[in-house]
Amino acid sequence: MNTRPGKFITVEGVEGVGKSTNINLMAKLIRDAGHEVLLTREPGGTRLGERVRQILLDKAEDTMSPMTELMLMFAARAQHVEELIKPALADGQWVVCDRFTDSSYAYQGGGRGLGDETVAMLETLALGDFRPDLTLILDLDVATGLSRATADAEADRFESEERAFFEKVRTAFLDRVATSDRYRLIDASGNMEEVQAQITSLMTEVLSK
Ligand code: TMP
Repeated sequence: MNTRPGKFITVEGVEGVGKSTNINLMAKLIRDAGHEVLLTREPGGTRLGERVRQILLDKAEDTMSPMTELMLMFAARAQHVEELIKPALADGQWVVCDRFTDSSYAYQGGGRGLGDETVAMLETLALGDFRPDLTLILDLDVATGLSRATADAEADRFESEERAFFEKVRTAFLDRVATSDRYRLIDASGNMEEVQAQITSLMTEVLSK
């Protein structure tokens, strides 16, 4: 059995970049290497967080202010980290999370225009210095991503936004990459095999450390 402590990995990107398929591949690679892995998502992950998620995605909440939106994201996140993520890591599991604080920088900081400093203040308040060990940012042009995301499901409150909003979100994600060496940019424009090859090579490197 491998006793090395687990890593906290987050996966980010604009809608339609293919996070779910790649997260499942990552989980398989981690398990194949002999580790236990917890898959979770934001907003959500806990009972409280999933209830907050319902409010956040509800199209009926069309008067929600950007600051309310940001604070609800962090309320769900604070609960998620304390109730699920930290205990799993303490138990030696790996944790792979579909979105985390970088989505708040991209959607609320960039898309809604609240700016990085406001998000950073809440990040410090809610998380202290707790950060992911590794963050994959899946990048794809917005038009392609949106056409994939809305092809088979009714649009939620975020998916109902205009393309210009998602262009700001994408730019904010790309700007994050330069802020820390925990980021890995994944080109999600190729076919599934090409994208999965990038993920497999990265995970092989991470798992061998
Ligand atoms: P999902 O589509 O990946 O399930 O995420 C739900 C939506 O929530 C997605 O449109 C991105 C948005 N979101 C934010 O705006 N800020 C955040 O901090 C997080 C975690 C998600």
